[in-house]
Amino acid sequence: MKVLALNSSPRKGGQSKTELMLSHLVKGMQDAGADVETVHLRDKTVRNCAGCFTCWTKTPGTCIHKDDMTKELYPKWLESDLAVYASPLYHFHMNATMKAFIERTLPVSEPFFLEGKDRTHHPLRGNHPLMVFLSVAGLPEEVVHIIAVHSKEGDLAERTVEGTIVYHADYINFESLGGKL
Ligand SMILES: Cc1cc2nc3c(=O)[nH]c(=O)nc-3n(C[C@H](O)[C@H](O)[C@H](O)COP(=O)(O)O)c2cc1C
Repeated sequence: MKVLALNSSPRKGGQSKTELMLSHLVKGMQDAGADVETVHLRDKTVRNCAGCFTCWTKTPGTCIHKDDMTKELYPKWLESDLAVYASPLYHFHMNATMKAFIERTLPVSEPFFLEGKDRTHHPLRGNHPLMVFLSVAGLPEEVVHIIAVHSKEGDLAERTVEGTIVYHADYINFESLGGKL
């Protein structure tokens, strides 16, 4: 199995808990026979998605940017059987570096919609790796720490509007009005 392990922590070796956790996961996968490549996103240039939809219109499947994502990381990601997304938890979410990477995978989807039983989605252009999320956090409480292992397109991960509102409210210490209005 070909695995692309992405680490989005800006901190290096000795300091980074994300890198520490990821290195153990990688070792375990290698011991089990996987062919694993680790990429530290801090060493790469992954520009923000320009939102131009060129990858859906003028050059289907190809991003307008010419950076490490287009030239190296996106092709590697497409060729992988599994992608590991290792991100420190920043403000109850993956950090911006990982989010930028994920946004830049837009070329893999087709521009049109497919209506499923429970949701509408974009069909994919071709192969797409399975995904594992590994998240490292600082707070000790059992809050929303996102350690989600999920299948193609997140079918097994529950993402609700309520969940999003609750974690943002929790983060800014909002109190519930509890019918006081
Ligand atoms: C900007 C920022 C936001 C953070 N937000 C959270 C958070 O919401 N919850 C939490 O438990 N820890 C939070 N942390 C702590 C980090 O998750 C923790 O320090 C982690 O070890 C960072 O990963 P690293 O060691 O690989 O750099 C935050 C840290 C930073 C720098």
